[in-house]
Amino acid sequence: MKFGLNITLLLAVELLAISCTSEISVKHANNLSSVVSVSESVECLWLPIEESAPEAQVTAVGANDRITPLSVRLSQTKVDYYMPISMQGVERLRVENCSYENICWQQLTTTPQAPDSSYRQYVHFSPERGWTNDPNGMFYKNGEWHLCYQHNPYGSKWGNLSWGHAVSSDLVHWEHLPDILYPDELGAIFSGSAVVDEHNTAGFGEGAVVAIYTSAGARQTQSIAYSLDGGMTFTKYEHNPVLTSHRADFRDPKVFWYAPRERWIMVLAAGNAMEIYSSANLTDWTFESRCGEDYGYHTGVWECPDLFELPYEDGTKWVLLCSLSIPERGGSSVQYFVGEFDGHRFTPDKKQPEADLLNYGRDYYATVSWSGVEDGRKVVVGWQNNWDYANDLPTKGYRGYMSLPHQLKLVNYSGEPKLVTEPAQEVMAHSHTLLSEEAVEVKDKYNAWRHDSKEGAFAVECDIENLSAQVVGLKLFNDSGEWVDVCFDFVEGVIRVDRTNSGEVDFNPRFPSISEAPLSESTEQHITMVVDRTSVECFTDIAAISNLVFPQGRYSRLSFHTIGGSATIRNLTIKEL
Ligand code: FRU
Repeated sequence: MKFGLNITLLLAVELLAISCTSEISVKHANNLSSVVSVSESVECLWLPIEESAPEAQVTAVGANDRITPLSVRLSQTKVDYYMPISMQGVERLRVENCSYENICWQQLTTTPQAPDSSYRQYVHFSPERGWTNDPNGMFYKNGEWHLCYQHNPYGSKWGNLSWGHAVSSDLVHWEHLPDILYPDELGAIFSGSAVVDEHNTAGFGEGAVVAIYTSAGARQTQSIAYSLDGGMTFTKYEHNPVLTSHRADFRDPKVFWYAPRERWIMVLAAGNAMEIYSSANLTDWTFESRCGEDYGYHTGVWECPDLFELPYEDGTKWVLLCSLSIPERGGSSVQYFVGEFDGHRFTPDKKQPEADLLNYGRDYYATVSWSGVEDGRKVVVGWQNNWDYANDLPTKGYRGYMSLPHQLKLVNYSGEPKLVTEPAQEVMAHSHTLLSEEAVEVKDKYNAWRHDSKEGAFAVECDIENLSAQVVGLKLFNDSGEWVDVCFDFVEGVIRVDRTNSGEVDFNPRFPSISEAPLSESTEQHITMVVDRTSVECFTDIAAISNLVFPQGRYSRLSFHTIGGSATIRNLTIKEL
């Protein structure tokens, strides 16, 4: 039952203070403990948030159940933005650790607040409201790409981890849907994956979508939930957790069907390595193997694995992805290993201490693939951010983006398999041509393009034929003197992307930086560059570099430059996405 005015007035004598509008009643039981209730007709209450305020604990008390307390930075002295909390089925909110003197009590409102539109990208996903980190539970079904993500629905810093949910038919336009998994008594909902159980191996129903995720409470354990309505709503399995361990870091299960053994395989991060489990029914899991302790970078805890098979030469190879922080490579990174998987264990071809990176930019992490893609492509998405500064990005009300969806392939590079990234074909299919030039010779500087529209994302593609230059560069810039420089250094054999003057860079000292990736040994280089409101993603023959940028206005001009000689730019096209 929600509050009635008479009862409120009667209780007031026992309380420290009370404030009341026609719809919202606040009673302060003592200076740090309050109760908020709303009239019957109110479905949603908007909480005023101040990002630098300490977290208050908010418990939504329902008629029959009590939901885990949420950590919410309720406004002390100013309102940065509002976050909605559903009051359906909620009798009252109990708020602890928030002074009765804070301004939040006067600022609570039932009036819907528009989401923040600043620094929104055009073709890169960001949550409508709140924080995001890793992409989670991605599956393709009935022509729709489902993308779940680590979501804080009550603030735009990390916390209250739930699974947000969005869906797209083209990997460019995303429809925001209600969150599908909320924290429970086993803990917050950390990263994981989703599969479609076509043959009802788990017994939840034919074609059930099953999400496999980490319950992060006192321990990290693996839980599952199933959906019988195509992934719109999920029911948690009643016997969760389905997998436990003595390890403190034990998380991010990625599950796939392994046909030769007719079993599900789970790969998950366990301390500084990966573990592989198998199951016939998604509920009972058997340990198979542990790998990775003696190869790859170990500069941080291993996270967010993926394991998949890709065509290579006349056969196939298996690829293991692993996210971790590598301070000397720019913080949050994704390393990968190529090898064999026999249904029980993964064996890398080489045990190098310094593994190859999937992306050399600063903003690409926790990359995993969609399950169920019909044509067998490996379509992946990464979190376009870096734990070095993730909580400081200069947005309000929402924080965090996903990379473009990419597709992966293995190419033979100098006799060895190399994992190469390109934008997913669906993303590029949306383009129409703005500029097309067959060949231009560049000596010193050439202004290639100036765009009238400052809206929308675009892709630049060209072949660079180096004639005699030491360096050939592409510069993106805007009318505010902000720029990003992409330089092919043929002397050093590297490509560098410089964002030190890209726009707003001083929100964290670790943000301004120059990323570096290897160049193939050729005087001809191909580049595709996708430029969105706050990111530049570059793809060469052998490397990808994804970086965030925060210019005052999107870059709308492009020039080429050379040092020490000349180059021919061939097949230059610029397409609007
Ligand atoms: C990676 C990660 C995962 C974990 C999640 C928690 O960014 O640390 O290992 O599941 O974020 O939000």
